Amino acid sequence: MKKEEILFMVKETEVRLAPFCTCEGLALHGISHLRRVSILSGRLASAVGEDVEAAVVMGFLHDCARTDDKAGDGHAHDSSVLARRLLGRFYPHLDADRICHAIARHADGEVTDDGLAACLWDADRLELKRIGREIDLDLLSTEVAWRLARARAARRAVLIGGGHDGKS
Ligand SMILES: [Fe+2]
Ligand SMILES: [Fe+2]
Repeated sequence: MKKEEILFMVKETEVRLAPFCTCEGLALHGISHLRRVSILSGRLASAVGEDVEAAVVMGFLHDCARTDDKAGDGHAHDSSVLARRLLGRFYPHLDADRICHAIARHADGEVTDDGLAACLWDADRLELKRIGREIDLDLLSTEVAWRLARARAARRAVLIGGGHDGKS
């Protein structure tokens, strides 16, 4: 799917779901974080042949019930509960069990063989750079995310004049 089509889908998803998300206003995990993860999750899904709509919606909902920016996995469970309600109301055609399982486990620090869950987990981890944390390449589940992270690290290394990302 073209990038423009994914961006349009994310925009529609945001209009529909943002009013129900408790994370609005958070500095690190507010609506802009949901939007970025949704876009990246959709693009990864398109690249690996997973359901783009499911990946976009899942990306937008993954932190939907956050109420603070603290670390930990409690918000993942809370978000999966709220996500199930919203999926039932707005997206009854999507696989809520698969999506909610991926949301509930996204902060457990694992990799996955589930291609759809991998899109969310990798998208969220690629976003770690935004809060100044290094991306652990061993915690990326898809080859395409791994290559993207490597390319970004190489670009950064060139920018700071090192020419090496220190990881290889
Ligand atoms: Fe999260
Ligand atoms: Fe997140």
